[in-house]
Amino acid sequence: MSWLSTSQRAVAETLIQQHDTPFFCYDLDKLSAHVTPLIDQQVVKLWYAVKANPLSHIIKTLDHAGFNFDVASSGELDQVLSQGIAPERVLNTGPAKSLKQIRHFARQGVRIFVAESHNQVRWLNQVAAEFDLQFEVLLRVQLRFDKAEHNPLGGNTLTPFGLGAAQWQALTLNDYTQLDFIGLHIFQWGNMLSSDTLAELWQAMVAPLVQLSEALGITLKVLDLGGGLGIPYDTQSPSLHWQKLIDTLATIKAATQVEELWMELGRYAVGECGFYLNPVVEQKQNYDEQQLIVSGGVNHLLRPAVTGQAFPAELLRSSTAECIDFHIHGPLCTALDKLGTLPLPNDCAEGDWLVFSQCGAYGYTESMPFFLCHELPAEYVISDGDVICARPVESAMSYLR
Ligand SMILES: Cc1ncc(COP(=O)(O)O)c(C=O)c1O
Repeated sequence: MSWLSTSQRAVAETLIQQHDTPFFCYDLDKLSAHVTPLIDQQVVKLWYAVKANPLSHIIKTLDHAGFNFDVASSGELDQVLSQGIAPERVLNTGPAKSLKQIRHFARQGVRIFVAESHNQVRWLNQVAAEFDLQFEVLLRVQLRFDKAEHNPLGGNTLTPFGLGAAQWQALTLNDYTQLDFIGLHIFQWGNMLSSDTLAELWQAMVAPLVQLSEALGITLKVLDLGGGLGIPYDTQSPSLHWQKLIDTLATIKAATQVEELWMELGRYAVGECGFYLNPVVEQKQNYDEQQLIVSGGVNHLLRPAVTGQAFPAELLRSSTAECIDFHIHGPLCTALDKLGTLPLPNDCAEGDWLVFSQCGAYGYTESMPFFLCHELPAEYVISDGDVICARPVESAMSYLR
């Protein structure tokens, strides 16, 4: 089975003629076909988590489909606004909102914030007062579940994302006259692939969240369930069933009596639209391992080193040679620079190209492109069947000072 469609393969085969270094390609036609139906329901309001892929073409495609935008930094905000998106359609999440950043957001017209600490609440109130504004605020909650009991909630690791219910209960809403507390936000589990597990997770959150909102005196107008919808990175993993998720969310909406359910989708929205072409530098045997050294590694795709999960890869040309497991290493002088151990035809060698799929989310901008001074990869988009260069290859001299 190939992860590429026939038309994507034809684009890849044309583009490699013009390149000898790695590049990304995002299929906006596929993206559009995927995301447009996601919006077509009345149950959940969808925001795009820009961190997944901030490329302007991607943002515009999601805008066209009807998504709003979740941004986590001034840079992401400026990128979204420069695509012509109104600030009223922007939500600000993230654990490091300084006073300076909040002022920038206020000046740019953003009015909806997810607060992740008592200080953030205080600073939001302070900036709103300075600008004579009223902000809408959701409190981000981190739940912990008793590990002794059976429950599917694996996201118990303590993180800086939000606060526990006990910490939030110390908040006195009336102290913050410039803030309208419209609801709660929760997001603790990433890349979930089972619709049933997600349903269990969400359902288990309802009671503690409703309890917290009552204790705080917040009328739950909005409940934001974050992201966490996964995509498969191998052929054995299942895909989520969107309609099943919507049915679960409808039940939760009814149970919590919220006016609006929100989610910020990153991976599930854009992950499957991207692929990455990577030239093979050489094949070698080292002890009992067959190794492939490729031109781009974690400098362009960091995720395998962080999660231990490879992006699926295939040889671009066709080969009838037997497949063996190759250890695929990038060009950096660190053992971390490994893209995975994957089966590929055993005649794969210098001059060949590998294509890595499912690279539309958490690819290029999650990586470490400057280490060892390699080229920055080009980025292409396929739009209405045309191939457009969004960013040419940039040599190290373009960024070295
Ligand atoms: C607050 C918030 N919402 C949504 C997302 C997107 O998550 P996903 O890519 O799993 O949809 C993230 C990702 O880190 C996030 O931090």
